[in-house]
Amino acid sequence: PRVLVLAGGLSHERDVSLRSGRRVAQLLRDGGLDVEVRDLDPELLPALSADPPDVVFPLVHGSTGEDGSIRALLELLDIPYVGSTSAACRLASRKPVAKELVAAAGVATPPFVTFPRGLFTEIGSSEVLATAVAGVGLPLVVKPEDGGSALGVTVVTRAEDLPEAMVSCFSYGNAALVERAVTGTEVAVSVVDLGDGPVALPPVEIVTEGPYDYDARYNAGRTEYFVPARLDEETTVVAARAAVAAHEALGLRDLSRTDLIVDENGTPWFLDMNVAPGMTETSLFPQSAQAWAAGGGPSFTELVTTLVRQAAA
Ligand code: DAL
Repeated sequence: PRVLVLAGGLSHERDVSLRSGRRVAQLLRDGGLDVEVRDLDPELLPALSADPPDVVFPLVHGSTGEDGSIRALLELLDIPYVGSTSAACRLASRKPVAKELVAAAGVATPPFVTFPRGLFTEIGSSEVLATAVAGVGLPLVVKPEDGGSALGVTVVTRAEDLPEAMVSCFSYGNAALVERAVTGTEVAVSVVDLGDGPVALPPVEIVTEGPYDYDARYNAGRTEYFVPARLDEETTVVAARAAVAAHEALGLRDLSRTDLIVDENGTPWFLDMNVAPGMTETSLFPQSAQAWAAGGGPSFTELVTTLVRQAAA
């Protein structure tokens, strides 16, 4: 099939997406497919209508990339694509919504409140913030409700630092998720469905000296990764089940990555779902895919090629 990888876009994660797109395009070419990479630009719609590809691999990250908009366009044009539907992405990309739905499926998620930007700028913000601290407890994490790559995310240990964290968050999004900070092992579990139902890949454990921020994510050497994560067998199974449960609760398709904290009791806490996980050299999904291949699973090339062929079929 003729494949179009969509990458770039105008979100804060544009550069990451371009790197993800190039990587996946190369894998698909290695798998023998005819691949073009394209940015989101005003010519996209006429080009897709005039000469539709057989299948699209959407790899635009961030709010506009992961909120379902691009997939809705593909659905309107009746072009098959890899990954979750626009409706599922709309739910999964909004952290408060995703947390509610995943919690309903029995997976733990840290307590939280959500704040619209308007409420924060009103006189009386300090009261509003005090309520947040009282409800959620310290330390807490402030994050844009729909962002990615840890942009606008701050860990707050002292109540007086909360206003600054909110300002930083609102430069990336219109609503803030204020969530209890859970301590434990940071783990990402990628899930793929190659036709036999969703399967969890070996988890990646993330160890950083400072926060796992944008810089730590995309500059080699800033973060140490352990694949598979240094969890005992039982905890690994529990974390894998949590990721599959989250994938299913949100009605996702083909691939996803669930970010979790595993606490000292071995309980996985759901933090975030990624419907277009990063595919750069330092990203988590590729590390899991490679570990899967090393353990006897399909190669990373085979994995992405199968996803494309399935979507095109
Ligand atoms: N939001 C980035 C791309 C990731 O989660 O991998």
